[in-house]
Amino acid sequence: MSQSKLPPPSELQALKKVAIEAAQVGGEILQKYTKAGFAIEHKTRLSLVTDADKESERTIVALLKQAYPTHQILAEEEGIHSAQQSPYKWVIDPLDGTTNFTHGLPLYNVSIGLEYEGACIVGVVFDPTRPELFVGVKNEGATCNGQPIQVSRIAELGKSLLVTGFGYDIAESGDNLDEFCRFTLRTQGVRRTGTAAIDLCYVASGRFDGFWEMNLNPWDTAAGTVILGEAGGKVTSYDGAPYTIYSKQMVASNGLLHEAIIDVLGQSTKK
Ligand code: IPD
Ligand code: CA
Ligand code: CA
Repeated sequence: MSQSKLPPPSELQALKKVAIEAAQVGGEILQKYTKAGFAIEHKTRLSLVTDADKESERTIVALLKQAYPTHQILAEEEGIHSAQQSPYKWVIDPLDGTTNFTHGLPLYNVSIGLEYEGACIVGVVFDPTRPELFVGVKNEGATCNGQPIQVSRIAELGKSLLVTGFGYDIAESGDNLDEFCRFTLRTQGVRRTGTAAIDLCYVASGRFDGFWEMNLNPWDTAAGTVILGEAGGKVTSYDGAPYTIYSKQMVASNGLLHEAIIDVLGQSTKK
């Protein structure tokens, strides 16, 4: 068991309940927009935002503020909602997988993580399209739709199915193309879902065996890292150093493949 500080058990259950309610309400809003239609704006050429992202975030933030007026909140679209000091910080992606969403590809989610004293202790990822609700609570395990989940037992890269993602600056940076090729040649396959929170939940539930990506943001990984950790997985930086949601590189795996993935990443020709 990890030594992270935790609030009292009854408080932890209340926090989990609020996180689940907020993620489900966000998911309902996303589904409403799939039927009603939505406007798309470009943050950059590839990075999109829609009315659905914005309404989902506004509603989640309002719910959390109502339940916990003194907590800090970090949300993707509007940034930090409260500068006051608190041991609690909610970290919200109101729509992870916006590009999928705008194309009608049913693979996106609402992701809500909660930091306590600087460590993530609650994670909720809700994919309203299936629907699947992933929940992780520090030292209590991880579930999908209420059923416990576990990482896979695949221990050889050659038998693994991995997943990765590319940042929105891919055209300028070319980042991760070399790594993508090398893993593709050494595994049973590499997938790209377009939603990092789902990538982490799918490693947690054994659908993928490992994941790597660089330049993710805290809201992409806050919830997923708790879920993966509680499902028996491992998360570090590319060099094996401890991962925080503010790190710029992430390797997530079933644990058994972790060193092998780090080895291949270390062979990058682009330094
Ligand atoms: C993106 C997704 C994608 C990842 C990008 C993220 P968004 O989040 O998680 O999988 O490759 O780096 O920005 O923009 O859909 O919330
Ligand atoms: Ca995201
Ligand atoms: Ca988003």
